[in-house]
Amino acid sequence: MDTVHAPSPRPLSVHAPAAPLSGSVTVPGDKSISHRALMFAALARGETHISGLLEGEDVLRTADAMRALGAVVLRTGPGAWHVTGRGIGQLQEPADVLDMGNSGTAARLLSGILASHGIFSVMTGDASLRGRPMKRVTDPLAATGAAFLSRAGGRLPLAIRGVADPAPLSYRLPVASAQVKSAVLLAGLNAVGTTRVEEPVATRDHTENMLRHFGAHVTVEPLGAGGRTITLAGRPDLVARDVVVPGDPSSAAFVLVAALLVPGSAVTVRGVGLNPLRTGLFTTLREMGADLRLSNERIEGGEPVGDLTAIAGPLHGVDVPADRAPSMIDEYPVLAVAAAHATGPSRFRGLEELRVKESDRLSATVALLERNGVAVQVVGDDMIVTGTGGAIPGGGVVETRMDHRLAMSATVLGLVASAPVDVDDTAFIDTSFPGFIDLMNGIGAGLAP
Ligand code: S3P
Repeated sequence: MDTVHAPSPRPLSVHAPAAPLSGSVTVPGDKSISHRALMFAALARGETHISGLLEGEDVLRTADAMRALGAVVLRTGPGAWHVTGRGIGQLQEPADVLDMGNSGTAARLLSGILASHGIFSVMTGDASLRGRPMKRVTDPLAATGAAFLSRAGGRLPLAIRGVADPAPLSYRLPVASAQVKSAVLLAGLNAVGTTRVEEPVATRDHTENMLRHFGAHVTVEPLGAGGRTITLAGRPDLVARDVVVPGDPSSAAFVLVAALLVPGSAVTVRGVGLNPLRTGLFTTLREMGADLRLSNERIEGGEPVGDLTAIAGPLHGVDVPADRAPSMIDEYPVLAVAAAHATGPSRFRGLEELRVKESDRLSATVALLERNGVAVQVVGDDMIVTGTGGAIPGGGVVETRMDHRLAMSATVLGLVASAPVDVDDTAFIDTSFPGFIDLMNGIGAGLAP
């Protein structure tokens, strides 16, 4: 398989555009759904056709990994992929190390699959991924009978001796993580008996939805206030099914926030996934007074989808409760930019999980704002941003720390700051949003490469 090299740095100096942003665009496919589509298709019997697949670096790592495990994975056109699956328990031992690049989702979900096959594998990733915690998945997965060896602190590279007859797990999530939930459920596919996951706070449910779509028996029951219990009947007959991937709401977020903040702008993003466990940012922006209009709501590939139009206008500060965090966990950096532009203070509660993303996003977001003259404080796990009332000074050099969402948030900040903002490296944007800079230029951002 290909070796993943760190891309050459691509710095960008961002200035406020001369005119408002305008236009109607689509964003690339949902990253979470794209990873799952490739993995589940490789585990199903028959040929799955996927359309709208995100062709970002992260998802291409998953495609390579599923090939290395014996599935036939072919690209037939832009976003169009055919996967011939091998069936549950039938994946082959990879001949070489699996390199998951920058992708935590790929590494965590794949651990569940590798642990539940009677094969040996080794997983690694780039410097960012090699610094991220894996014990959150290897601890529960060890109860299947699989064995793991890793670097200190449970970091990659990780060696996995999987088991052909894994024990079904019953696990209560200690952290609100869809990746951990999904790793446990994926291991349950090859276990005889019922796998059960309790999540005290509901997290994105794409795994549950797609498992059902491929024919597995999955039940979801409410648990306490806002939690869920999910069960999966083991060894289902997973049968190939076509998958339509909606536009990624986490990518649409950057375009929509830019349009809300650049005076006079009006931009529509068409075909955005609106799964209610992903839309916390849109709820929050509306609470801040944003004019965000939804049209053309429909169901596509089993997920709610719609067109979102953002019309620029003044925003005010907001207090975001901790229990909303899982539904917008990837959106805090760009929300912090919106809060910096708004009038009055904002408080985002319960952000402990931000510390273990592609970077420590809590400290990286603080640095993004501070370097550009915005006052921000961390109190416990909360972030408090002092809004500038539309007068972000800017002029900072932003370190994006191998984190695509930091790079895009810094770009949005530069579009509304008084002085230009220098982003040290935009190369990692390709992990989730290839074509971001061209798309932004298409709506008038005027970003010079
Ligand atoms: C994801 C879950 C989230 C999110 C990530 C994608 C997924 O991570 O941050 O970008 O596809 O399951 P956690 O499960 O660690 O919260």
